[in-house]
Amino acid sequence: MSKKKVSVWSDNRFWQRSAAWVTGFASLLLIWLTFNTMGQITMGTQKDINKHIDKRVPSATVINYEIQYKMNPRRGHEVPVIGGGDGKGNSLFKVKEKFFGRDNYTQKEADALLHLGKLTEQAKNCMDCHTLLGNGGYYAPDLTKAWLDPAWGKNGPMQAMTGKSTKAEAMAEFLMHPGKYPTHARMMPNLNITAKEAKGLVAFLKQMSSIDTNGFPRGFGKIKEGVVYARSK
Ligand code: HEC
Repeated sequence: MSKKKVSVWSDNRFWQRSAAWVTGFASLLLIWLTFNTMGQITMGTQKDINKHIDKRVPSATVINYEIQYKMNPRRGHEVPVIGGGDGKGNSLFKVKEKFFGRDNYTQKEADALLHLGKLTEQAKNCMDCHTLLGNGGYYAPDLTKAWLDPAWGKNGPMQAMTGKSTKAEAMAEFLMHPGKYPTHARMMPNLNITAKEAKGLVAFLKQMSSIDTNGFPRGFGKIKEGVVYARSK
């Protein structure tokens, strides 16, 4: 039998080998991506903050720091800036902010507060009405970056309305007695939240606002004339 010259494109072995190589390469890539993603989304610790490592999900001890939402020109959207920024969208982890009178919560204390906040958020079903990190209802404002809502800031109407002198205390007061502070066509119901639970919830909301969500929800911070803010002017 004479050997026929076969084009490489119609050679079975070529396609078998290609399939094996492509599958092998894609598997390795997926394994690498899995570990890379795990590394990126693993929650940080105070040690990371001390070393100025900017974790996407920072340690619960971010409650000891001031958090701002700043445009990062390189990335084209806002990013949480923790403890003051370098003007380019990077955190400096220097500027502290008192959270219910203290800015020295230990890892253990901050973790416990965050845990209490998360359990309360689940027990009271905040997601029935609100959205957190893309999950939940659209009845009430998105809470992912609620901590950064200027309405709660120093000169913001929400803080003024509650008569408190810090963002944390104003938010806790609102959560305990939402009916006393109507700003909206829709009102948040009284959920019988205790002072302890409110503190946990505010820690939970503050830490959540520090998560780098790639600018999600889009446009937050630019829409100053958004719901809560507009009504109170
Ligand atoms: C039954 C629906 C409902 C539930 C459940 C609910 N809320 Fe609300 N919440 C609202 C509405 C409506 C508003 C808007 C009120 C306003 O602007 O006056 C609001 C406003 C807020 C605000 C202010 C929003 C902002 O942008 O600053 C915060 C913070 C908040 N809720 C937190 C919570 C937390 C935490 C829980 C769970 C413990 C919760 N809510 C459960 C309906 C709800």
